Amino acid sequence: MTSPTPVVELVGAGFAYEDGPAVLTDVGFAVREGRAVALLGRNGGGKTTLLRLLSGGLRCASGKLLLDGAEVTYDRKGLTRLRTSVQLVVQDPDDQLFAASVAQDVSFGPMNLGLPEDEVRLRVTQALAALDITALADRPTHLLSYGQRKRAAIAGAVAMRPRILIMDEPTAGLDPHGQERLLETLDGLRAAGTTVVMATHDVDLALRWADEAAVLSPAGLRTGPVAELLADEALLDAARLRRPWAVSVGRLLRAQGLLPEDAPGPRTAEDLDALLDRVG
Ligand SMILES: Nc1ncnc2c1ncn2[C@@H]1O[C@H](COP(=O)(O)OP(=O)(O)OP(=O)(O)O)[C@@H](O)[C@H]1O
Ligand SMILES: [Mg+2]
Repeated sequence: MTSPTPVVELVGAGFAYEDGPAVLTDVGFAVREGRAVALLGRNGGGKTTLLRLLSGGLRCASGKLLLDGAEVTYDRKGLTRLRTSVQLVVQDPDDQLFAASVAQDVSFGPMNLGLPEDEVRLRVTQALAALDITALADRPTHLLSYGQRKRAAIAGAVAMRPRILIMDEPTAGLDPHGQERLLETLDGLRAAGTTVVMATHDVDLALRWADEAAVLSPAGLRTGPVAELLADEALLDAARLRRPWAVSVGRLLRAQGLLPEDAPGPRTAEDLDALLDRVG
């Protein structure tokens, strides 16, 4: 079976900021429809840069960006096409929010698409509800807490109904309840067909939530099944990542003879529960 054409793909992508050293060299990164992808790597490793290349905010110095297999043109038409498919939520919500109120901010993107007023209103209502911030609709964005601003910024991207939602460390600064709510929201979006790419430093969250991992290290970008990559000690070291707790537990269970050598380890607390039930 041949896999379908990726929605977006970087091919041989290289990038350096003005007068700076190369941040990314010859990176290939394909995002396929329906996947949940976690992008991991050390501070300054190039995650934000990679996500901005993928969403068209930055342009590759070498290599190219493909949308549905066709090279993206960085003119108005090409960028509009890219932005209706791919939405990036930036790391710092203060770089994204600018309108007077939350509802105005969230409505800005859909309004710019030229959608009818009713449709804009519907999308805003749904996006606010999805992020649990309906009650904040009329609040000035600058008076919100950090976590509330973060949710408002995500709601703005969700209201665009992108095929691919890209988020740069969306759970950083959210309280545990907020994190769980965000993951539920993402589950809902994924069930409706949205592909999600998320940069994160949280290896436990990545193992639990993602099906694919993309790990940036000085050796370049490695992509593959999340459970495989996050059990690779050399890769974790190179990317300065901690070993996920579930990987450690899987190892312990195998060492104790409670889990066959070739059996997949747990990825969540629920997995572990089920596994212990079976061996118990
Ligand atoms: N606007 C900029 N101008 C010049 N250099 C930059 C700029 N933004 C980032 N860099 C540099 O590019 C490299 C990659 O940064 P990037 O923000 O992509 O890393 P990151 O993996 O997202 O890090 P973090 O985990 O801290 O968010 C770093 O060395 C950084 O200093
Ligand atoms: Mg970053």
